[in-house]
Amino acid sequence: MESHDDLLKRAKEQILAASTHDSLKEIEREFLGKKGAVAALLASIPTLPPEERRDVGKNANILKKAIQESLDARQAELAQSTLSAERSGDGFDATLPPKTLQSGSLHPITQLTRQLEDLFLSMGYTVLDGPEVELDHYNFEALNIGRDHPARDSQDTFYCDDAGDLSLRPHTSPVQVRAMEKLDPPFRIVAPGRCFRNETTDASHEHTFHQMEGMVIGKDISVGHLIGAMKTLLRGIFHRDVEVRLRPGHFPFVEPGFELDARCPFCEGGCSVCGRTTWIELLPCGLVHPNVLKMSGIDPEEWSGFAFGLGLSRLAMLRYRIDDVRHLLGGDMRFLEQF
Ligand code: PHE
Repeated sequence: MESHDDLLKRAKEQILAASTHDSLKEIEREFLGKKGAVAALLASIPTLPPEERRDVGKNANILKKAIQESLDARQAELAQSTLSAERSGDGFDATLPPKTLQSGSLHPITQLTRQLEDLFLSMGYTVLDGPEVELDHYNFEALNIGRDHPARDSQDTFYCDDAGDLSLRPHTSPVQVRAMEKLDPPFRIVAPGRCFRNETTDASHEHTFHQMEGMVIGKDISVGHLIGAMKTLLRGIFHRDVEVRLRPGHFPFVEPGFELDARCPFCEGGCSVCGRTTWIELLPCGLVHPNVLKMSGIDPEEWSGFAFGLGLSRLAMLRYRIDDVRHLLGGDMRFLEQF
């Protein structure tokens, strides 16, 4: 069998002569691979007389290390010379564009939320936040929706406990209640945030979506104030006056309750966005129900107010012409990179 010294010499000669990364890999396989020379040496140990085994084993490991070191050194040399060759002309193209840093962008819902927050702040509103896992009292009871109220069924709530005391909030309206408990009237608040409903998802339904709640409490607040605020909101979003109309709508915490429609900002005679009707259903709203004021300690004889529940997901879809609500939280970079 070839001596250690001869083996090392042969390996070193080949390594020095190698001029490509591929040939180095080949040499590595030949000497250090599973079926390579060093492996063969180790495999022969059991056939040797016991007194020789230890030395042969030890030397085989030293040999292995030495070969690996020359391989690494030659590898580094080759890398260096490729680099200098590229720099000195061949294969180096100074006109290639540099690698660009990948930067993220704000989610369309975040952009819209910030824009609306600025708008409402400029109108003297305060921006509030509320918990996403909410008590039954705030989600329903204090909004005039008792345990047996049929409106509970339509909310498709995700309950968090068997008693039904805790659930993922199905709307941002609980923040109205928290505001009434915390603030002394008069006040104006908006509360953007995530809501959750146990719904079958499709292009216009998602189990997680965003709303922005609004509430104004003051003296002699009327439907006129509500319409005025909504028109200002629309002007802020679409940068021009948008006609609105009210249809009756029922929500236990407002009386009277409305659905507010806006004249379609994308067409004049009907288009696919408005379903050829020229009207877009924009938000539910109404005057705060006296029971709701009373339950949160506000005297309905002295104070009145309006509230609205803006569907942020829906508005983002309208604004950015997104045709499927599931894109919003789908996490697909190809979608998100467009904003
Ligand atoms: N919270 C209601 C919902 O999500 C919407 C709403 C808010 C209606 C405020 C009236 C006033 O269904």
